[in-house]
Amino acid sequence: VSVRVRTHANPLRRFVDLHPPDWNLVYDDPDRPFALEFGSSKGEFLLRHAALMPHFNILGTEIRKPLVEDLAARIHEAGFRNAHVIFGNIAGRLREFTPTGRLDAVYCFFPDPWPKKRHHKRRVISPALLDELALLMPPGAVLHAMTDHAALHQDLRGVAAEHDAFTEIEPPPLPARSGWEEHCLATARPFNVMAWKRAA
Ligand SMILES: C[S@@+](CC[C@H](N)C(=O)[O-])C[C@H]1O[C@@H](n2cnc3c(N)ncnc32)[C@H](O)[C@@H]1O
Repeated sequence: VSVRVRTHANPLRRFVDLHPPDWNLVYDDPDRPFALEFGSSKGEFLLRHAALMPHFNILGTEIRKPLVEDLAARIHEAGFRNAHVIFGNIAGRLREFTPTGRLDAVYCFFPDPWPKKRHHKRRVISPALLDELALLMPPGAVLHAMTDHAALHQDLRGVAAEHDAFTEIEPPPLPARSGWEEHCLATARPFNVMAWKRAA
């Protein structure tokens, strides 16, 4: 089933009902290592992660409701008890959405670029988000990102370089491909892969 969605949704709009679920209802074992994905969209990466990394729980976030409903149905159909998706922008409330209090891996693939300066506050990765991540990621945990937007690539590298808690590293292999990554590969569209390690 294909879903029609607006291209860009404002992540700063109010998400009524933005509450963490009862983790015991969504995961078999909420104490497993925990991965967070911002902007799961159709969920290609999240579903593959769930299948390939059964020892991990993964939480996806997405601000476009039809995509969330579709992905939730797919998780249910696949019978995954180590994957869940949340409708909303959880920036500012990451602690509440981290069942173990520990973010063992964070993924942000092809976030919307919001190129106009007055819209930069809508971007997912911001200095404030890095402050939050720094509190929850143990030393050595990795924030992975990809973008096909050259200006955003430079901007992200700059934002992270200014944060004491993160060190840019050679991107480690990822457990699976994202949907947009596959699109880029299929159409020879250039993109950048980035990774930062939570410093000790
Ligand atoms: C270009 S798509 C990339 C999708 C996917 N990550 C991939 O690589 O195939 C960006 C997605 O992020 C979602 N998004 C934008 N801002 C977000 C936010 N603050 N929190 C969660 N999702 C967000 C958008 O609705 C969109 O589905």
